[in-house]
Amino acid sequence: MGGCQTPDKEIIIQVNNLRTQFGRTVIHDNLNLSIYRGEIISIVGGSGTGKTVLLRQMLCLERPKQGTITIFGVDISHATADQIGYFRSRSGMLFQQGALYSALSVFDNVAQPMRELKVLPEALIRDAVYLKLDLAGIAPIHAQKMPASLSGGMVKRVALARALALEPEILFLDEPTSGLDPESSEAFVDLIQSLHKELGFTVVMVTHDLDTLFALSSRIAVLADKHIIALGSSKEVIQCPHSFVKEFFLGARGRRALTALD
Ligand SMILES: Nc1ncnc2c1ncn2[C@@H]1O[C@H](COP(=O)(O)OP(=O)(O)O)[C@@H](O)[C@H]1O
Ligand SMILES: [Mg+2]
Repeated sequence: MGGCQTPDKEIIIQVNNLRTQFGRTVIHDNLNLSIYRGEIISIVGGSGTGKTVLLRQMLCLERPKQGTITIFGVDISHATADQIGYFRSRSGMLFQQGALYSALSVFDNVAQPMRELKVLPEALIRDAVYLKLDLAGIAPIHAQKMPASLSGGMVKRVALARALALEPEILFLDEPTSGLDPESSEAFVDLIQSLHKELGFTVVMVTHDLDTLFALSSRIAVLADKHIIALGSSKEVIQCPHSFVKEFFLGARGRRALTALD
């Protein structure tokens, strides 16, 4: 475990002793995690273990009730509304279901964060939207389409263009390739990889897909037993003897994906 705690790396998000509870159900307990600037860190864990909730907390959409989350050096529980607004404007999120506004065109979906935060005058938004669409690999002819007419892969790309709208420092991806066929999934992974190289943002991703996981992650964090039980490179994490890790990585699919690593 560990092995990646290099002190000279800049911590961009720090989660300390986080405890999350809904009613009587404890989701996270004593959860600790540091996220370094520029890395692609993936969080894996069983269904319902609180991966999406953790992303939402790091996005300041939910505040931790116990424990702390520090973003850019500020404890979000004590942050001012202005500071929270600033963090949100520096983060982009691709939600699990794509989560496009069905009543808005592709163009208006991508323009929405820019309009909401009034970062640009309307006259400049047009160029900015086309730039983001281009980054996400969407030709201008698709700009006036409605979400219902798009393929699954296109929905993810539009959602990505929207997540990139404010030029985020941190990009959160919740199951970015779920529901995509292998080809679209691979194309999406390549897209994230080249954007990461080009734009240098930090990526915090949740995924079940081993190909996506191994292709993108600089580190993997395993969420089980309500906290992070293993953290490190893929090679380090698969050494962990925890039953979830064994099942997740060393099932038939896992073995195939691991062979492809060497
Ligand atoms: N706002 C909420 N109120 C009550 N329970 C919630 C809420 N949000 C999430 N949960 C519960 O917390 C658990 C973790 O949810 P989630 O983070 O979505 O899991 P996953 O790891 O699959 O993404 C689930 O059991 C879910 O039902
Ligand atoms: Mg989830």
